[in-house]
Amino acid sequence: MLEKMSDFFEARLDRYDEHMMTDIESANEFYPFTARQLPTAKNSLILDLGCGTGLELQEYYKLNPSARITGIDLSQGMLTQLKQKFVGKEITLILGSYFDVPLGENVFDAAVSVESLHHFKKEEKIGLYSKLHIALRDNGYFILTDYFSLSDEEEQMHRQNLITLKAAQGITDDEFYHYDTPLTVKHEIEALIEAGFTSAEVLNNWGATYTVKAIK
Ligand SMILES: C[S@@+](CC[C@H](N)C(=O)[O-])C[C@H]1O[C@@H](n2cnc3c(N)ncnc32)[C@H](O)[C@@H]1O
Repeated sequence: MLEKMSDFFEARLDRYDEHMMTDIESANEFYPFTARQLPTAKNSLILDLGCGTGLELQEYYKLNPSARITGIDLSQGMLTQLKQKFVGKEITLILGSYFDVPLGENVFDAAVSVESLHHFKKEEKIGLYSKLHIALRDNGYFILTDYFSLSDEEEQMHRQNLITLKAAQGITDDEFYHYDTPLTVKHEIEALIEAGFTSAEVLNNWGATYTVKAIK
């Protein structure tokens, strides 16, 4: 059964961190790696798209304790857990969809997103990435760690499966449902470039999980 995105994560809150760190291959490597790509300058302003309970931020704060974070997430439960972890930190949490929340202009030194954006179509991502591009300062950049389809066929198969499941359940609205539809890395990079980033390149990968850096 498809579940609405926020319901899906709310229902799995209790075991979320443990699940990510034990069941997701190489999580103990890609969270620290992602954190190491973010700015080390004091008071850096960082945007986290789909911050969840803040697993990537745990690693980043070890390297840059004075970073000032803005995190956006659809799930109140995830944000509440995050807040409890980082008492005393200057952190702004926004409950909502990163597709809808205004991000401003020339605000952030860098942005990050981990394991959140594999649910959306290329066209939707181009809109989001254009908004993100505007929100980054000059020389700002975006670090994306997520998992990807390994072929065009796999990408199409996931998308078709979602259409079939929605039809079978009589779902006709445009709300976000939790079903993984990862793009290929090639299509992800195309979306970033079409959105205005001057470059987008793979920094590392662990199986189907890749870290991509896109520079404003
Ligand atoms: C698998 S979790 C990853 C959380 C965190 N980044 C991590 O790696 O542990 C995906 C998160 O993305 C959030 N999410 C999914 N779609 C979103 C959207 N459109 N806007 C904001 N958050 C979203 C979910 O609520 C969930 O907390």
